[in-house]
Amino acid sequence: MTYSLHPASELPFAQIADLLTRGFEDYFVPIHITAPVLLTMMRRDSIDLTESRIIHKEGEPVGVALIARRGWSSRLAAMGIISTARNGGIGTWAMQKLIEEARARGDKEMNLEVIEKNVAGVKLYEKVGFKKIRRLFGYQLENPQVESAEKLQEIDIRELARLVTYHGLKDLPWQLSGATISQHTPPARAFRLNDAYCLISDPNAEHISISSVLVKARSRGAGLSPVMMRALFARFPNKTWHVPAIYPAEICGVFDQIGMKRAEISQWQMSLTL
Ligand SMILES: CC(C)(COP(=O)(O)OP(=O)(O)OC[C@H]1O[C@@H](n2cnc3c(N)ncnc32)[C@H](O)[C@@H]1OP(=O)(O)O)[C@@H](O)C(=O)NCCC(=O)NCCS
Repeated sequence: MTYSLHPASELPFAQIADLLTRGFEDYFVPIHITAPVLLTMMRRDSIDLTESRIIHKEGEPVGVALIARRGWSSRLAAMGIISTARNGGIGTWAMQKLIEEARARGDKEMNLEVIEKNVAGVKLYEKVGFKKIRRLFGYQLENPQVESAEKLQEIDIRELARLVTYHGLKDLPWQLSGATISQHTPPARAFRLNDAYCLISDPNAEHISISSVLVKARSRGAGLSPVMMRALFARFPNKTWHVPAIYPAEICGVFDQIGMKRAEISQWQMSLTL
């Protein structure tokens, strides 16, 4: 078999998006990547298309690996191989090359998240040296009936990003880090109640995603976050609330305490020291 890697920057966005969608065919959750979705991922998550790779088999594109970069760290933001080319060793070959490339450009660590029940993915990443850091969970809650007299104060998303960088866990998953939070823009909105903070996606939509929650270090353990969450649910009634499966157990008490339901899909946060 002849395998080769080519810079993703050589392909038009729409073709990369299409190949990614095909690479995630029959996945655990439906994935449909369009050019605008890819552009948002690139901006938010610092994906570097010059270091991302199109994976070829016998001269034909069969997969994509998106590489995000910040300082000394890189992240495998997505890797998908089309179903007909899977389970023949190309994923292992590509990962070994991507790790060599990361070392050669001076990165010191590579990170990723993988769905726990993705047997092929977990096996592959452990085989090439990634270690499990922690489990990551998501939640959902439909139309909570809540009353609250508390008034949320709206703040600039950049202000929240600064606070997450300062007060958040140092090894937060990439998408929860202050660097990612600072790339969110309206119609997403950030709110504060005393020392508790959150970032949500467009509250005018029927489904709202909670992209960040934070309680300043000095106020942790005082029960502030459920008060803030209730105020949030009361301010935007008749919504379905989603927490993506990227939250470490250390943070999940916030969602457990207000009765959100843990999602079936959980992930491993993994890291490789280069
Ligand atoms: C995950 C993925 C990238 C792996 O690529 P691949 O080319 O199939 O990987 P390989 O053939 O090198 O196999 C890697 C390991 O997984 C195992 N494997 C592959 N497919 C498997 C399957 N369906 N069930 C169980 N194990 C599987 C292989 O046996 C191998 O383990 P081994 O070396 O111990 O035998 C590919 O399957 C894929 O694109 N899946 C859909 C998208 C996805 O899950 N991406 C990862 C998201 S983080």
